[in-house]
Amino acid sequence: MIPDRSKIENFFGQHEFDVDYVACASDVDGCSLRELLDLADEESLALWEGLELGYTETTGHPLLREAIAGEYTKTGPDNVTVCGGGAAEALFLLTNALLGPGDHAVVVAPAFESVHRIGPALGASVTPVPLDPGQGWRLDLDAVRRALRPATRAVFVNFPHNPTGALPTRAEFEDLLALGAEAGVVVVSDEVYRHLEFDPETTLPAACDLDERAVSVGVMSKAYGLAGLRVGWLATRNQALVDAARAVKDYTTVCASAPSEILSLIALRAREHLVARSRRIIRENLTHVESFFGQHADAFAWEPPRAGMLGFPQLLLPVPVEDFVRELAREQSVLLLPDSVFDMADNRFRIGLGRTSLPDALDRIGEFVGHRVGSLA
Ligand SMILES: Cc1ncc(COP(=O)(O)O)c(C=O)c1O
Repeated sequence: MIPDRSKIENFFGQHEFDVDYVACASDVDGCSLRELLDLADEESLALWEGLELGYTETTGHPLLREAIAGEYTKTGPDNVTVCGGGAAEALFLLTNALLGPGDHAVVVAPAFESVHRIGPALGASVTPVPLDPGQGWRLDLDAVRRALRPATRAVFVNFPHNPTGALPTRAEFEDLLALGAEAGVVVVSDEVYRHLEFDPETTLPAACDLDERAVSVGVMSKAYGLAGLRVGWLATRNQALVDAARAVKDYTTVCASAPSEILSLIALRAREHLVARSRRIIRENLTHVESFFGQHADAFAWEPPRAGMLGFPQLLLPVPVEDFVRELAREQSVLLLPDSVFDMADNRFRIGLGRTSLPDALDRIGEFVGHRVGSLA
């Protein structure tokens, strides 16, 4: 069965390239090829210049898997599978590997679409566990425990979180992993915004290091600013899960693109430089956003994210957020993402802190709020 269309992708597909400013993007401004190649060490530059454009290894280039394993402490290169379709592919493989008819999964909500759209198409049922805005979007572990059933195969989480910027404490995250281990379910931890914590001390350990059944999903799109490479991965010491995911992969991308693999290798070897670049962009935007929402406190309720690069403010004006977003795009050519794409109706929208054009977009939103909202109300 074909899953329901992705509301997020559908929304971006309709509007993203028609507006001047995408103020809700979940990636950091793309790094240029020139900028990236300037960071290459001798070995990876030679690999790039001598690259043959044939098929690559299904599990990923050995040097790339080694560089990815550098993100982990107990999870080695052999535990890494590179995905040529980004983290989106990794999540697709894992959902297919873990869920079938009669199975059950628990997923934090709101969530990047994957398991809650693909799971039902596979004949599985999915229980969302909402993060509570009244509690700083905290994950309620008791609610996760209550959602577990004998048929539960996996708990899908994502921290730092899209779209709320939620981040549990290390103790809470460890408790979640312990709960998964105790219940015999796989914790699928989508860690694509890892390393984008505002305080590096709050970076969580990777799930794949905390528990050998758990799996961590990573990508080049967010902390590295290289979404166009479409390189993601899954990392786990759970060999049965690796085998099942790789069987599905035979029917998706088979292997990653050869140029993207070498460019990812270059980027991961220049990890500190690229992550610092992303953090700088996000930090500067956070200052602008704080001041913007401070000036417009009558129109928006803003709670700063704890980590990552996304915020999820609430529109306080007596206007449905869908109308607000549509009019804003038409009048000011600025795109925000309404909460309906996350199956919510709380008059919220997602704002992204990864684009250097955000301050200009905020000026336009401010103008719109000042001049046009009266006519919308
Ligand atoms: C939480 C989360 N997981 C996975 C993805 C997929 O990342 P990519 O499109 O780079 O594969 C995204 C993208 O926005 C995301 O926000």
